[in-house]
Amino acid sequence: MNITEENRKWVDGVWEKLDKKLRKVCVKSRNKIPYTTENGVHDNMVEKDITWWTNGFWSGMMWLMYEDTKNEEYKITAENAEKLLDGAFEIYDLLHHDVGFMWHISSGVDYRLTGNKKSRLRTIYAANMLASRYNAAGKFIRSWNDDHNGWVIIDSMMNIPLLYWAAKEHNDDRYRYIAENHADTVLRTHIRPDGSVNHIVSLDPTNGEVIESFGGQGYEVGSSWSRGQSWAIYGFVLSYIHTGKQEYLDAAKRVAHYFIACIADTDYIPLVDFRAPEEPVLIDTTAAACAACGLIEIANCVGEFEKKTYLNAALKILKALEEKYCDWSDGEDSILQMGTEAYVCREMGRHAPIIYGDYFFIEAIYKLRGNTMLFW
Ligand code: GLY
Repeated sequence: MNITEENRKWVDGVWEKLDKKLRKVCVKSRNKIPYTTENGVHDNMVEKDITWWTNGFWSGMMWLMYEDTKNEEYKITAENAEKLLDGAFEIYDLLHHDVGFMWHISSGVDYRLTGNKKSRLRTIYAANMLASRYNAAGKFIRSWNDDHNGWVIIDSMMNIPLLYWAAKEHNDDRYRYIAENHADTVLRTHIRPDGSVNHIVSLDPTNGEVIESFGGQGYEVGSSWSRGQSWAIYGFVLSYIHTGKQEYLDAAKRVAHYFIACIADTDYIPLVDFRAPEEPVLIDTTAAACAACGLIEIANCVGEFEKKTYLNAALKILKALEEKYCDWSDGEDSILQMGTEAYVCREMGRHAPIIYGDYFFIEAIYKLRGNTMLFW
């Protein structure tokens, strides 16, 4: 990624701060899989819920740090978290469509970086679980496990890169057909003409026709949950990278244009929902960090004269996050503050550090450093 000298200095300075802090935190939190922090200290999902959808991010962020720095301490922590996550395979009934979030960026990256055979198997188990959720009549991957077997959420676009990987690894296009059919369905059912996105859509499981949509983690039906918009931006550009299908890149760009318009008035920090009442003011820094990753990838995919639209937006987002919401102190294990789980959520999930905020912030800076290995 070509950036100006001034931006390069900024990126390298941020990376230095990340490495300085995480070098210590990675040893301190070695036997944990964190989700958030309590009084500045990482919590541990191994004790709370090993099947939780975010449990691959800690290992993934350690691999991001390792891939750039080659500091073995990061690798040890990443591998340890991957082993701790094995407990989730034993509770199969509780696993879900978020297995891509859990294993593609943890064991999947381990295998691609080191050739670790056990990591390959873990990633294949996860891909097979995801593929087994495919509904051939409706042409979609079902999301949750309850009796809503036609519900599909936009977040799913971040899970299907696991299937593109499995297709290549097995030299078996069935995985890719499932992923593409699912992406085609989501493009038809979730992406609105104006570039905003539905979070949850209920589809008829017998034919894939839309029954109704729900507000999900956003404010209400027809509103616009910002992290859902980010999942669409990054998810669709990833599907484009893996398949070369122009309509996926166009979809990513359409949602990106809408997202960029929505953050222009809030100093490049997204509200939790772009279509919610003015009060209360709820923001979500995790949506910003994830969108920045997607925008950087779009910039990588478009022609020379288009790049700046996406790259400059990503830089503005990341600079705003760094200036206002990063905690570089030793008294706090997390980096990015002020993430929000959902418009309506528990107190401790509102304006709090959440592990995927750290992950995507680091991934965005990692990309701007010129690292080219795509984790998804
Ligand atoms: N995948 C659930 C969320 O974004 O909160």
